[in-house]
Amino acid sequence: MGHSNIFLVGMMGAGKTTVGRALAARLKREFVDTDRVLVERTGVAVATVFEIEGEEGFRRRETAVLREVCEQDERIVATGGGIVLAEENRRVMRESGTVVYLRARLESLWERTRHDSSRPLLATPDPRARLAELLEQREPLYREAAHVIVDSGPQSASTLVNRVLTALRARSAGAAKAP
Ligand code: S3P
Repeated sequence: MGHSNIFLVGMMGAGKTTVGRALAARLKREFVDTDRVLVERTGVAVATVFEIEGEEGFRRRETAVLREVCEQDERIVATGGGIVLAEENRRVMRESGTVVYLRARLESLWERTRHDSSRPLLATPDPRARLAELLEQREPLYREAAHVIVDSGPQSASTLVNRVLTALRARSAGAAKAP
């Protein structure tokens, strides 16, 4: 199991992929997106996996991909919004690196997801209400999974990367001081 990965967790539309890519470029590390690996493995879109195997099948595949990613080192990992649902996923991420919760307000999540039809969980008559419901259910799980929390919103990717780096540095300075 690797120990030096950085995982970005948070809701759909929090900016995990955008920030993850920019962070990887800044740190000259390799970027991995768990959804993308899953899509490469199955050869079909996330929505198709949901359609054929249901959310349960998707979650099983997601956990398998995460386990594989955790075997590697020094990766910047953007995760799917529901990765924190399984206790096992929360644990393996914490064991294999640092987990950053990219926290965003409902309004901002909605702005970033409202024109996107690729997310099966939002394919409902009232996607905004669904997003609110998921945020409420998952907020405690993101907090539980995370070592650090960084606020995300309409800021540029480079501003968010700076925030993440500041939070990570503050955490390692704190850890260095701890007895
Ligand atoms: C999901 C989020 C999606 C994707 C799938 C399920 C979720 O990833 O994994 O549609 O449960 O929140 P993003 O957070 O990258 O949109």
